[in-house]
Amino acid sequence: MECHKLSAKPCSSYLFFVILLIFASLASFADAAVHYHDFVIEAKPVKRLCRTHSTITVNGQFPGPTLEVRDGDTLVIKAINRARYNITLHWHGIRQLRNPWADGPEYVTQCPIQPGRSYTYQFTIQNQEGTLWWHAHSRWLRATVYGALIIYPKLGSPYPFPMPKKEIPILLGEWWDRDPMDVLRLALFTGAAPNVSDAFTINGQPGDLYRCSSKETAIFPVEAGETILLRIINSAMNQELFFGVANHKLTVVAVDAAYTKPFTTNVIMIAPGQTTNVLLTADQPSARYYMAAHAYNTANAPFDNTTTTAILEYKSAPCSAKKGQPVKPIFPQLPGFNDTATATAFTAQIKSPSQVKVPIEIDESLFFTVGLGLINCSNPNSPRCQGPNGTRFAASINNVSFVLPRRNSLMQAYYQGQPGIFTADFPPVPPIPFDYTGNVSRGLWQPVKGTKLFKLKFGSTVQIVFQDTSIVTVEDHPMHLHGYQFYVVGSGFGNFDPRNDPAKFNLIDPPQRNTIGTPPGGWVAIRFVADNPGIWLLHCHIDTHLPWGLATAFLVENGVGKLQTVQPPPLDLPPC
Ligand code: C2O
Repeated sequence: MECHKLSAKPCSSYLFFVILLIFASLASFADAAVHYHDFVIEAKPVKRLCRTHSTITVNGQFPGPTLEVRDGDTLVIKAINRARYNITLHWHGIRQLRNPWADGPEYVTQCPIQPGRSYTYQFTIQNQEGTLWWHAHSRWLRATVYGALIIYPKLGSPYPFPMPKKEIPILLGEWWDRDPMDVLRLALFTGAAPNVSDAFTINGQPGDLYRCSSKETAIFPVEAGETILLRIINSAMNQELFFGVANHKLTVVAVDAAYTKPFTTNVIMIAPGQTTNVLLTADQPSARYYMAAHAYNTANAPFDNTTTTAILEYKSAPCSAKKGQPVKPIFPQLPGFNDTATATAFTAQIKSPSQVKVPIEIDESLFFTVGLGLINCSNPNSPRCQGPNGTRFAASINNVSFVLPRRNSLMQAYYQGQPGIFTADFPPVPPIPFDYTGNVSRGLWQPVKGTKLFKLKFGSTVQIVFQDTSIVTVEDHPMHLHGYQFYVVGSGFGNFDPRNDPAKFNLIDPPQRNTIGTPPGGWVAIRFVADNPGIWLLHCHIDTHLPWGLATAFLVENGVGKLQTVQPPPLDLPPC
């Protein structure tokens, strides 16, 4: 066909017809595109820090494939497990309305996909746009099994800021110079803390400051003067991170797939599970600039103190910067590892763009202590009791150290009415009040194991105050709630004061998030409406703390009618 010349007369009516067809299909696809993907989970050799490991990947990629969709689209992802581990996938931040079956946390909403088997995750994006991500939700497999999930606005709806020239996903990760599953296995055997990581990564690459890594350092070319959107995702396992770009200001425009009032900063703090979209204008002299991330460490515990880098490279940067004697990129100034003042000041600036509908009358007011604990051993010299003073590390909410069931998933047990898998008696307040951030008596350090859920009536309004404790150590615990977006209405240091603190809550323009950290030795308050029926995991997104028990789940009951009732499970839901 010669139709590419618009003047070609014989074709013009045909062309007109084709254009009509394109428009018709665009119109219908505008709110209903369906994206099919196969995610083959398999071990592939991946070389980092001079050594090759057999790494669990998706489609041989590390990090895994980026999913790009629009609000309203449907994703159909067939997860094919060719690895030697059980696995599940989670779509972090997707609301999964009435569809917990597609959420993914193992033994919560499904049993894991066994080696050689597959399961198809099918879900529709409903009124969400921005940056989310996906990751394995099965022991420590998410160390290497993760990727970006980018949701563009519906066709024809613009961003609430000038269209950037370019968009770059920045996945911050964490790398061990050994099989992460072995790191976890050893820790769960000994009861001690797992080894800290050997590197942080940007889009899978540690960068110039690590051995054998310079050649592969991620480089992002920019045109002088253009504005780009960085979609920053903290997919690290265990570490809050500071991130900055040398000499460039960052304008925060969204977090966790919710827009924010734009504000400008030199550095961001981002916790595992969170995402932050920033605009960056290439308004500096043509050169090469490092972007870098290192730990924001709040616990009195060992941490990975290394720094990952990538390079922002102006296309017009002098050639000598590219070949010949390499000119070292300019390095950004990052805050000190324990700079809580900077982290707090940054987080406090995040607000919704305008007034939002925050629940005012609260039906369920919950007060959850979150923190570590130690389980005493009858034989403190046992190889299984290598934690502090012959104990085993644990973690809990309201003194319940959460144990995942093994015989069935919580959601299946609930749906099938199978007893004995969980109880719905999670305590709304700690069993014993104490000075949470003071000098806690040793008698309160040992949590009790259990699979306790908290029941919520459909449509009830919920407030949770997460209170960090100083048991073992104070720490920033990034709390993530599946199936929901919540408003962060307040936070502070020390013990939450129920008489005076609520008066200071921001009920006008609080940020909307799916993951929020407790300030170390402080508290944070969230509110949401329980409008999504099903069982939804609530947990600390530090992957050392989750297997120690820093979790619980909400059982949100069905409401009235089909639109308030959990959908039936898909037929290929994996058996246990
Ligand atoms: Cu990002 Cu329960 O997970």
